[in-house]
Amino acid sequence: MTYSIAIDGPAGAGKSTIAKKIAKELGFIYVDTGAMYRAMTYFFVTEHIKKEDAGAMGRLCENADISIKYQNGEQQVFLNGENVTPYLRTEEVGNLASVVATNGDVRRKLVELQQKLAKSENVVMDGRDIGTCVLPHADLKVYLTASPKTRAARRFKELTEKNILCNIEEIENDIIDRDKRDMEREISPLRQAEDAVLVDSSDMGVEEVVSYILQLFMERK
Ligand code: CDP
Repeated sequence: MTYSIAIDGPAGAGKSTIAKKIAKELGFIYVDTGAMYRAMTYFFVTEHIKKEDAGAMGRLCENADISIKYQNGEQQVFLNGENVTPYLRTEEVGNLASVVATNGDVRRKLVELQQKLAKSENVVMDGRDIGTCVLPHADLKVYLTASPKTRAARRFKELTEKNILCNIEEIENDIIDRDKRDMEREISPLRQAEDAVLVDSSDMGVEEVVSYILQLFMERK
């Protein structure tokens, strides 16, 4: 018997920061499923596959061996034996990932891997379809969101801290486009599961959100 917490929501809602802290607090592993879609995207980029070529993606995704390991509690993503984690958090990869994530073959492959992980470990898993598709029986489901302005400001801060040059209006527009793609796609669109708790973090600090979610989990388990 393993425990699982599912955290879904749009880009820049703070899912990874929150999920990491909750996992640490509970001694669970943190599974960043977005990083798996990003790794698959990185694979297609290195294979020179065009984002319009869904057929090639469907065929080639079988050649991408994606696995997750933990070093000092941090998730590392391996693609065909190589640690590709440092290449995944760029805006280019993130935006392309939301196109790759519309592909049914890619989703099937990654969902299977995610479900396997949750069977053997206690997990806090974040993404877009965790509560609705990957872990429909999660012990707690949270839909974490914030206003587009707040989310753009958070993403701007994340990138600036990494010395990546960016423009806040462009980021906000990209976030709006990406959310639209994620919410309107045919397979496993981003939406709040019926039994998920809605948390709007626009005016909440990180610690406040973490303690609220921990309290929800304690009440449920
Ligand atoms: O960190 P951020 O919210 O910007 O993005 P991410 O979680 O790294 O996910 C990148 C993209 O992968 C998303 O825009 C989704 O299109 C896709 N994704 C998905 O479809 N399903 C998931 N479970 C996780 C990510």
